[in-house]
Formats: sequence, C-alpha cells, structure tokens
Amino acid sequence: MRIVDAHCHLLPLIDDGPGGWDEAEALLGRLAVSLGSGSLCFASPHVRFSACAAQSSPVHARMDEYTAVVEKAAGGMRVGLAPEILLDALSPVPPELSFMCYPGTNRLLVELPPRLPGMIAVLMLGRLARRGFSLMLAHPERYRFAQRRSSAVVSLASAGIALQISLRSLRSPLSAVRLTAERLLRDGLCHVLASDCHHPGDAMLTECRGEIDTLSGRGSWDILCRTNPSAVVEGGRPVLLREALP
Ligand SMILES: [Fe+2]
Repeated sequence: MRIVDAHCHLLPLIDDGPGGWDEAEALLGRLAVSLGSGSLCFASPHVRFSACAAQSSPVHARMDEYTAVVEKAAGGMRVGLAPEILLDALSPVPPELSFMCYPGTNRLLVELPPRLPGMIAVLMLGRLARRGFSLMLAHPERYRFAQRRSSAVVSLASAGIALQISLRSLRSPLSAVRLTAERLLRDGLCHVLASDCHHPGDAMLTECRGEIDTLSGRGSWDILCRTNPSAVVEGGRPVLLREALP
C-alpha cells in the first residue's frame, strides 16, 4: 500500500511554507525522493474559516500554478490539495468550504486555536459534522486541552473525528507539544501521522519508521502512514491506532 502524507505546506508564497518557487521545488523534490514513486501527498495551505470565501480563489489559483512544479519535481508521486482550515469563528458555514475537502470526499483537515477550551472545540467540530463534513483534526498535541488530559482526545475520537499527529511536533523544541505527541502515540490515540513539512530541511515520514514502531508498537507506522491516511483521502473510515493494532 502506498505512503500518503496528508498534511504538507507545499505551496509557495501563500502561508508560512516555502518562501519562493525554488524552495517549493526543492521541498517537493525531497518528498518525492523520500516517499517514492506511487506515493501521494497533499498541499495543505492555511485557510481561516472566517475568510474561507475570500481565500478560496487565491488558494486554488496557486495550486493551478503549482502544477508546473509538480510535473518537474514530483517524479512518480501524486499531489493533491486539501487546505488546513483554522476554525477561528462560529460564523455561518460558507459554501466554499466544500471545495476545501480532500478531493472526492467530504473530509476536511481542520485546526483549532491552541488555547481553545475543549468544550468549545467539541462545539465547533460538532457543528461542522452536523453539516455533513467528516473531519480530521490536525496536530491535537498542540492544543492545551489535549496537553492537559487524554480524555478530551478520546472523546473526539469517539465522535468520529480522525486524529492527525504531526511529525513536526515530535521534533518540536516545545516540550509540551513534543511530550503530548509522544504520549498520544504511546497510547494509540492517533489515526494518521503526517509530516506537516514546511521547508526542505523538515523531517519526512520515511525517516521515523523505527521511532514510531518503538513508541507505538510494531506495525504502527504502516497503519499511520499508509492504511489510515489512504482511507481518509479515499473517503473511508480510519481505525484508531490502539484498536487497529493486534
Ligand atoms: Fe500545518
């Protein structure tokens, strides 16, 4: 089964990812060599929920421009678009949100303000779920409610929200983020591992296989980097790591 990196900042000059087209090409080339032919990765530029309508056209236009870079540097790797939506407001759901899902699915990659109380997070995520969206929550390890207790994260998983831990967090200088990512992985409270790479020097999924299998159990990396992300981007249901392991 192919490797899927479901969360990468590949598009240049649009968020805190590559600062120019040369850097964007270098990052894509590194991903292609690292993940190999047949793999799949997603450009996930930051989009604010409150500005989704205004940001939709520029993001899709930049992705169209990026196609030329993909043809030059991606080798046999395929690249799709799935913006990372920051839930920064309780404003009405804009119609443009439907164009932010993993292509051909109703699955959105969402992130939360880091200090949002857990109860408000549940409210915001539940509201989108009731509108028919499936959700994958980016880097739960960064949120204060998840750093304080795992029960809040268990509740999200029980509500059908896919949990995506970032490899970037395992390299974070912030100990609260790093230790929470390790704890969630150790406890099997994760569906998907993604690089969340921003620059060519960032860690790639293929570099952490031994580390993840040591932390979470043998076979974990395959579940988190192949089986579950494939299910997510194909409109299926990923299985929580601790339920998927024998
Ligand atoms: Fe990200």
